[in-house]
Amino acid sequence: METSLIILKPDAVQRGLMGRIITRFEEKGLQVVGAKLMKISPELAAQHYKDHVSKPFYPGLVKFMTSSPVMVLAIHGNGAIAVCRNLMGATFGSKAAAGTIRGDFGVSNSFNLIHGSDGPEAAARELALFFGKGEVLEFARAGDAWVYDMSSGTAE
Ligand code: RTP
Ligand code: MG
Repeated sequence: METSLIILKPDAVQRGLMGRIITRFEEKGLQVVGAKLMKISPELAAQHYKDHVSKPFYPGLVKFMTSSPVMVLAIHGNGAIAVCRNLMGATFGSKAAAGTIRGDFGVSNSFNLIHGSDGPEAAARELALFFGKGEVLEFARAGDAWVYDMSSGTAE
């Protein structure tokens, strides 16, 4: 089981797409275990995107991410990190496959609606940046017995 940090970027919030994007994760069977609306400070954006600091798009990226509120989500499930990345689609909206979030809802390359952790280390680091103690919950859902095959004792 994994938990991924998902950010619905300012364009997703401003365009009224939060509900439809969250629905994609819920319909897949993934579980929302943390959620909040917040404005990202320049300092937090810099920490979050520290690996991109030398890239040409970095100043624009920080400006975009701090320009308007975002919704941050903790999304939990079996292989959740890769499952989320697959649901999101390729980085650029113009290239992302139809059926993915970026492929269906946008055509811009930089205003690409959503962030998702790209591996377990990144997920742990990013969840700690955006969620405080007690803000990511652990709870069973009534329908989990039909989302996963639990006959072996673990989620399959
Ligand atoms: P993210 O980190 O936001 O989930 O996106 P990603 O892994 O698919 O892409 P990444 O390479 O990590 O880039 C981070 C974000 O920077 C913006 N970007 N713009 N104009 C450009 O060439 C360019 N390249 C990247 C996008 O907002 C991208 O999501
Ligand atoms: Mg990335």
